[in-house]
Amino acid sequence: MKYLSFFLLIFYFLSTFSFSEHIVEIKVPKIEEQYLNGESLFNLNCVSCHGINGAGVNGAGPPLIHKVYEPSHHGDGSFYSAIKYGVKSHHWTFGNMAAVKNVSDEEIVDIIKYIRFIQRANGIK
Ligand code: HEC
Repeated sequence: MKYLSFFLLIFYFLSTFSFSEHIVEIKVPKIEEQYLNGESLFNLNCVSCHGINGAGVNGAGPPLIHKVYEPSHHGDGSFYSAIKYGVKSHHWTFGNMAAVKNVSDEEIVDIIKYIRFIQRANGIK
């Protein structure tokens, strides 16, 4: 019984910790098949800073599921350029983003489509 409550306590701390890592709360739709490749590329290359499904990571990077990144303000071209060439910090205080190497142009297109899909599900269009 002692052990059980010990584990429950650990579990509680772990779950509140991972919860508070996100910067914004977002709705996560069921990922449609056409966006699955973008999702896994995002998880490989972007998730450490931009968080699961782009919800941001405290101390690391901004949420991309955010009004600042709606298509009319940051179009696909600016997404492409951020990934390809990096970006100087201008909206937040996380610092600059370095270019992401090892992703092809086709993969960048898939990553952007996936982010736009999650954005739309959150009313950011
Ligand atoms: C090492 C951390 C890190 C990684 C990895 C990273 N980013 Fe970023 N990203 C940042 C930071 C920091 C900013 C700057 C925010 C600001 O404007 O202050 C940023 C900004 C951006 C922007 C906004 C560009 C603009 O014009 O304002 C986009 C879009 C973006 N990232 C997409 C991505 C995608 C997609 C990936 C994966 C392919 C990725 N990032 C990987 C940290 C990262």
